[in-house]
Amino acid sequence: MKQSVLNGERRHDLDGKIVSLLFYEPSTRTRTSFQQAALKLGALTVATENAKEFSSAVKGETMKDTTRIMNAYHFDAVVIRADYEGAAEEAASVSDSPIINAGDGAGQHPTQSLLDIFTIYEKFGKIDGLKVAFVGDLKYGRTVRSLCYLLGKFKDVEVHFVAPDSLQMREDILEYLKESGIKYELHSDINEVAEIADVFYMTRAQKERMKEGEEFSPDGYRITEALLKKIRKEAIILHPLPRSNDFNEIPEELTDDPRILIFRQAENGLFTRMALLKMVIE
Ligand code: CP
Repeated sequence: MKQSVLNGERRHDLDGKIVSLLFYEPSTRTRTSFQQAALKLGALTVATENAKEFSSAVKGETMKDTTRIMNAYHFDAVVIRADYEGAAEEAASVSDSPIINAGDGAGQHPTQSLLDIFTIYEKFGKIDGLKVAFVGDLKYGRTVRSLCYLLGKFKDVEVHFVAPDSLQMREDILEYLKESGIKYELHSDINEVAEIADVFYMTRAQKERMKEGEEFSPDGYRITEALLKKIRKEAIILHPLPRSNDFNEIPEELTDDPRILIFRQAENGLFTRMALLKMVIE
């Protein structure tokens, strides 16, 4: 898909197909790249950008009923970003057409993890044996949870979770990694892993999901000039974006460091979502 887009090919894989994009939470990358992916493959889209406000969810309609309606209108796939965990699963339980989880609250963001793993693979030519450090708010960051799930499918991967105690990775993912035979360690400062990680996966504090009393101080969870001097030159720094202005986990002035691949990572979202739509619809 990447070569095809870069070569400017006009594709017809999904000519005549129509994809529904139902977004209950804000999105720049996931919504736009899914829409563009559908168009690039010849499909059309019907998009609801702010379903929380402008769909009948306002009137109390459930996810199951909304999905039944999407089925009634014969969409070929429904892409859903919801504001609570388990929403996509709920939709899938009543759907005849494919449901794609585009993020469900603090639960999972599986299509993000596909573009993440593709970006890592593009750089290293492998996933096995890599050391991956996840940094920041790991309790509410759904992209980290999904990428851990994928990493569990590979061999000899080592995972380092760098977060304050109150925002550390939740037990379900730690349990899953254990069952998958993946070694992991918990840390409280990025400096502890600066010289060992191949991949630094930075995250923003998910302020919108934090409970009263939960706070995040960015010290120890940011990329700084001093830290870049310690990080190996072959390592890469990723972030699902958006990066936060308040916490500055990857400061604007460091964006051009060649190890920071955040915009190539986002671009890969287009290609992986094209591949996914083709696989589930064609
Ligand atoms: N990474 C990501 O999901 O970004 P958006 O919230 O902008 O879609």
